[in-house]
Amino acid sequence: MNVLDGGSRTAEYLGRRIAEWRFVPPVDYWAGRIWDGDGFEAASGDLARAYQSEREIIRSSLEDYVTHTRGRRLFALDAACGTGRYTRLLLDLGVEHVTSVDVSTASLELLRGRTRDAERVSCVLQDVRLLGAVPDPPTYDIVLCCDAIHHLGDLTEVLHLLRRMAKPGGLIVGDVWTSDNYAELQAERRGATKRFSSSMHFLMAALLNGLANRSVMSASRSQLHTACETERLLRQAFPEVLVRQEKFWVSFSTIAEAPSP
Ligand SMILES: C[S@@+](CC[C@H](N)C(=O)[O-])C[C@H]1O[C@@H](n2cnc3c(N)ncnc32)[C@H](O)[C@@H]1O
Repeated sequence: MNVLDGGSRTAEYLGRRIAEWRFVPPVDYWAGRIWDGDGFEAASGDLARAYQSEREIIRSSLEDYVTHTRGRRLFALDAACGTGRYTRLLLDLGVEHVTSVDVSTASLELLRGRTRDAERVSCVLQDVRLLGAVPDPPTYDIVLCCDAIHHLGDLTEVLHLLRRMAKPGGLIVGDVWTSDNYAELQAERRGATKRFSSSMHFLMAALLNGLANRSVMSASRSQLHTACETERLLRQAFPEVLVRQEKFWVSFSTIAEAPSP
């Protein structure tokens, strides 16, 4: 391991520990940018393959559910939808209507432009964390949140929010990107020097955010938990859940139980 590598790992370790103490979701950062999943999937290399395989895993859970509920009109929530790669997948699988929520106006505009059946989609510019804040929030047959749960704050709180948004018997499906191989991913994407500056930036952001208790810097790095920690939190949040650990993320699917009386 060279000096840059060692420095990056130390900065990332310290940054994660500080962010665990006080993680401030970087909502402003996301509101001002476009994260284009379609573009990442269409590129080449390991990262593109990872995004393609992420989609295939989610597709197979969705297909099973749609087949199982054949004939029912299904209403879905795509929470933190970005430019809508999963919104379009849901439509392609025959879901009647998708509510697609994100904080990025530009991403929602791209989603609208890329979606053929616009009348089957409602685009909502909103912080996902506020969805359940009203007394009787709308509920859905499918609640999907991919590659975003880790950006939204406390993992357990977000999982409970997703649970509240699902009808009893509804499907909750998604994934959480994890810290295990994140450094490797960064090195592959950016090279050792850029990765070092990115790691130092992450450490500074975590520190400033923690001290100020708000998102002072655009700390987009939110993969704070390892795959094992993530699996444990998922099993605590959902009594019966299918969990699959992959290199960069943990995917899950579960059927929402009726709320206890
Ligand atoms: C990595 S992208 C994933 C997008 C999409 N789910 C996909 O897989 O293609 C994360 C998305 O979460 C959105 N996001 C982040 N924080 C959010 C929040 N608090 N409420 C709603 N959307 C949010 C970002 O704007 C971004 O589009």
